[in-house]
Amino acid sequence: MSALKLQYIMSNEIAKRSFFSRPPEPPASILLNDPYKAIFIGTTSIFKVPFSWSFENITNPHIAVVGITGSGKSYFVKTFLIRANYIWGTSAIIIDWASEYKDWVRQSNGKIVSLGKGDYLNILDLSGIPPINRTKQIMNALEILTDISLFPEQRRLTEEAIEQSYTNMGFRLPDVPPEDKEGPTLHNVIALLQEKLQEGTYEYPAEMENAIYRLRQFAREGQDFFSRKSTIDMKKLATSGLVDIDLSGLPDEQHRALAALVVLQILKEKMRIEGWNMNKGLKTLVVLDEAWKIAGDEKSDAVMIVREGRKYQFGLIVASQNPTDIHETIFSNVGTTFILRTRFEKFLNYIQSSLNFSDTIREEISRFGVGQAAVDMAFQTNLSFPQVFTLEKIRGEEPLYVYRIDMTDILTKGEIDSGSLPRDYQFEATELKNKLIEINMGAESMASIVSAFDSRNRSISMHDFIDLLVKNSSGTRDIVTFLKSLSIDDVIITRIISEIGDAHAGGVM
Ligand SMILES: Nc1ncnc2c1ncn2[C@@H]1O[C@H](COP(=O)(O)OP(=O)(O)OP(=O)(O)O)[C@@H](O)[C@H]1O
Ligand SMILES: [Mg+2]
Repeated sequence: MSALKLQYIMSNEIAKRSFFSRPPEPPASILLNDPYKAIFIGTTSIFKVPFSWSFENITNPHIAVVGITGSGKSYFVKTFLIRANYIWGTSAIIIDWASEYKDWVRQSNGKIVSLGKGDYLNILDLSGIPPINRTKQIMNALEILTDISLFPEQRRLTEEAIEQSYTNMGFRLPDVPPEDKEGPTLHNVIALLQEKLQEGTYEYPAEMENAIYRLRQFAREGQDFFSRKSTIDMKKLATSGLVDIDLSGLPDEQHRALAALVVLQILKEKMRIEGWNMNKGLKTLVVLDEAWKIAGDEKSDAVMIVREGRKYQFGLIVASQNPTDIHETIFSNVGTTFILRTRFEKFLNYIQSSLNFSDTIREEISRFGVGQAAVDMAFQTNLSFPQVFTLEKIRGEEPLYVYRIDMTDILTKGEIDSGSLPRDYQFEATELKNKLIEINMGAESMASIVSAFDSRNRSISMHDFIDLLVKNSSGTRDIVTFLKSLSIDDVIITRIISEIGDAHAGGVM
């Protein structure tokens, strides 16, 4: 006879029994927040509760996002920024390593700062910070990015020269600088060191030469993005709506990391002065996506901001494919972590040991589809519910892509007066599709045209576009209808058609 005995029982009887395990999700009172004060993210997997994120119950507003490529990190970040702006009027600064957010920011009428492609950031700018503190911050950035900490004498020479450059411009080191007084640049610092070297009285000229060489990396002709007068007003940046700091134009990782560190330092200082007031919501969100140098170094301001969380009225969002690039202090101190699909054992081990979730959740994370996520929240209350729960899907804002037909070729080749046509026509995806439907295009042809746009950065010349129409069996009449729908003058349409017709040598058209 077996030791176990089956028993028939009604489900209402089971419901009355108490279970030893905890419920698998936090209670609705924690997950459901006032929609005017919280950001809707998605519904939970088990009880299907609509989860909205608010910082009211958690230790700080900072967020980490991890997941493999294509798992939906950037999509989540964009969704979050849009809703935060809607709810609290939150501004956002995206430190855009690989130019991943630029198009989206442009479409959202944000501001784009292109370092290395026309914009400059003088790293000696004070932005209201006393020169003595700013000098320390610059030294801190050099310590993270170069080998300067291994050479104490070179470190001392560099620090002194930076301070001297401020004093020479009439600043007093410990004082808050006057509003609009312009600071020195790295060129001034290098010149001071060179002068000293040429005087010939300094005992260790090799040390001096090396100190000069190190700074020169950031001041070479053609690469002096950090040693010229700034084109960006850092003081205003934190409250300028959506701002993309595009770093893709900088020559290497070191230059990109320097830019990111400087931006963070200045923002942190500004925010530290203002403090975080729960009632005011989030003033600014700063996004670091794949900024490994910045998120992985103990000395970086990203780590300090997260550690000192509550002092700041801005949230830091750190996103990465590789969680081991994010410093453990960040993981164990951010108020919220979104874990999207993560596959590698090493990464899963790292997150699981930092956040302490069950093997069942670990297993789920490795099988997540796009947009599915586990959420870890550091609640302020004593926990009687699990800190980690999973979401069916992050419910996001679909990106509004702009499709562009470039008219430059028509304007130049067709000898058309430049005043009579715009340089391009722009459409949202549905708008473009509707126009194609109007000229009776079938679904397959339409998909092939949209994918041709996608593969060319969503911008195609009018010439190529008409070629595509022809290839997808549109006749002259359809093309004329399309051009008319753009309000192009009849005379010009005739010219375009004959020009294109010539190109096809009387072929298909
Ligand atoms: N929650 C979601 N709902 C619908 N579509 C999504 C969702 N998350 C991501 N996507 C789509 O999946 C694709 C990849 O997403 P995304 O660019 O955010 O990935 P990622 O994690 O940032 O990747 P990478 O590390 O390569 O930057 C995009 O086309 C995006 O629109
Ligand atoms: Mg991404």
